[in-house]
Amino acid sequence: MAILVTGGAGFIGSNFVLDWLSLSDETVINLDKLTYAGNVRNLDSLREDARHVFVHGDIADRKVLEELLVTHPIRAIVHFAAESHVDRSILEADAFIQTNVVGTFNLLEAARRHYDALDDKRREAFRFLHISTDEVYGSLTQDALPFSETSPYAPNNPYSASKAASDHLVRAYHHTHGLPVLTTNCSNNYGPYQFPEKLIPLVIHHALTGKTLPIYGDGKQIRDWLYVGDHCTAIRHVLADGRVGETYNVGGWNEKTNVEVVHTLCAILDTLRPRSDGRTYRDQIVHIKDRPGHDRRYAISASKIERELRWKPQESFESGMRKTVQWYLDNQAWVSGVIDGSYRAWISGQYGHQA
Ligand code: NAD
Ligand code: TYD
Repeated sequence: MAILVTGGAGFIGSNFVLDWLSLSDETVINLDKLTYAGNVRNLDSLREDARHVFVHGDIADRKVLEELLVTHPIRAIVHFAAESHVDRSILEADAFIQTNVVGTFNLLEAARRHYDALDDKRREAFRFLHISTDEVYGSLTQDALPFSETSPYAPNNPYSASKAASDHLVRAYHHTHGLPVLTTNCSNNYGPYQFPEKLIPLVIHHALTGKTLPIYGDGKQIRDWLYVGDHCTAIRHVLADGRVGETYNVGGWNEKTNVEVVHTLCAILDTLRPRSDGRTYRDQIVHIKDRPGHDRRYAISASKIERELRWKPQESFESGMRKTVQWYLDNQAWVSGVIDGSYRAWISGQYGHQA
């Protein structure tokens, strides 16, 4: 059998694919459009591996989906593909609606038709796992309880609104069509292969290249942080044992202000790669104009997944951050390939056009 992973060349998707194939021999069909956020170099170690089948395509393309579902014995879909950066959604939201909403709809339609045509045994085993975010719940006040699976949806930016829409569609396909869906809503991830537009890899890259470390507004906004490897383990637990139709919140119990995150990164870098002038990386911090509509606080209760599926994060904030900084120090060539755009060369080489 095989699983279909969408968005498996992105940050979390590629970590998931690498993790999956390190633990199992089950084939992964990896469908990815290779937007700016998709990087096949993340999957270099699987180049000769027959268990990994990379397909360059769009989740909104029903024909491609139908072909994949007919050709391969797919027993589950793990849906990561999305536009994922809040700042980009503020500048221009079109792609967010197209991929996160329309794309998810097309994937659900293709999955439903596939599911309806399966025999009883395969229907019993089939799962559609939708990867979503805690941002759909909106912003919390300082003393509010963390988000639970029953918190009302209150998205505040085009990214979170498009993810909320996709969550609702997934839910509807279960209730209306009986599609065996599962949804995870996870907090902010960090770790290897994260595109350096997101806070943590951006700060590491800027620190090492002598640029300013930009903090939006007062920097007292709070996020919960989870090491990506822990998220991948949670997804495997939900896929294996999650109750159909349920949602599971995933988080690290690590609420930090953005200032705390940046200070932690500076302290680790001061130890692992001290500045040549002997000063601290903190000197590079600048506070800049705040993001419009910036959510003040996200916090997540992961009690349900811990209780029902016996999942717990393995990394603490300190150990995960140290591992992450070390990974970026050891993989400067990966970062340079992203910054200079050469990671995109694979697409033109393969398809004869610039994607
Ligand atoms: P990412 O932006 O790094 O990767 C997204 C991947 O999807 C890329 O490889 C891109 O090429 C691909 N893609 C985009 N549009 C596509 C389309 N139309 N068809 C096929 N492939 C397409 O994102 P990420 O950070 O890895 O996030 C993955 C998922 O996890 C997203 O659904 C996101 O909402 C969710 N999530 C992310 C975080 C986080 O902190 N990064 C936290 C919680 C949930
Ligand atoms: P980000 O990594 O973009 O994730 P999200 O917006 O999905 O939470 O940002 C994390 C937090 O860091 C968020 O509160 C915005 C803030 N931030 C900065 O202060 N400076 C930056 O340069 C970036 C990219 C983010």
